[in-house]
Amino acid sequence: MDLLEKVDINNLPKHVAVIMDGNGRWAKKKGGLRIFGHQNAITAVRETVEAAAELGIQYLTLYAFSTENWSRPQYEVNALMQLLVSTIRKETATLTKNNIRLQAIGDIASLPDACRRELFEAMEITASNTRMTLNLALSYSGRWEITQAVKQIAQLVEAQKLKATDITETIISNFLATANMPDPELLIRTSGEQRISNFLLWQLAYTELYITDLLWPDFRKKNLYEALVSYQSRERRFGKISEQLTK
Ligand code: IPE
Ligand code: IPE
Ligand code: MG
Repeated sequence: MDLLEKVDINNLPKHVAVIMDGNGRWAKKKGGLRIFGHQNAITAVRETVEAAAELGIQYLTLYAFSTENWSRPQYEVNALMQLLVSTIRKETATLTKNNIRLQAIGDIASLPDACRRELFEAMEITASNTRMTLNLALSYSGRWEITQAVKQIAQLVEAQKLKATDITETIISNFLATANMPDPELLIRTSGEQRISNFLLWQLAYTELYITDLLWPDFRKKNLYEALVSYQSRERRFGKISEQLTK
């Protein structure tokens, strides 16, 4: 496939994050219920995970359910939680076969028991897999994450185990749910929405954004390649000027 050939495998992001958006609109276009869109999102997830692992991307973080998504109609929340359980159950064997480790970030304690159990089991089964980490953001929001980090750091200060003046960016990063992962170099958002929606607020500080009008259930391997080709064409200056960058 020529698009795949355009991807420079020596210049891959270590971490790709995805806001999988547009399931509801996809379903509406087909004359179906929103949940039909969520069901059809699984193929896109499978393709993206497979393509990322095949290329050699180390971390793939998928925004699957935000803190704010709890405010959706109860039947949609229930359906999403059930879909999560059935998908994890079905896909764990494939993850193992492909040497992919499953992790999760977010307020996991807020998930229904069945979800939490399924998730922990899959995380345990895949814990020693090394090819790629698939990181699911579940009941996640950037502000939730920063708030819980601040609480933990404040407790250390209160217990006089850390001085306020010694707090660094590294210490803050270490208290985030993504503590052992590099920041994403690339963020993909589908469905054309040009916003962050409370995702990885700290980690996205210098991330390259790639927004496509494609609705998430239509996302396929070639669309990941497209995003990577776009990423690789960018000049990442980190505040410097072009002439200072060594290629
Ligand atoms: C993304 O699709 C999936 C979740 C947020 C769980 P949406 O359900 O937000 O679909 P749209 O944005 O309404 O089309
Ligand atoms: C962001 O999508 C959250 C996930 C993809 C899980 P939303 O559809 O919830 O975002 P907003 O509310 O339109 O910004
Ligand atoms: Mg949406």
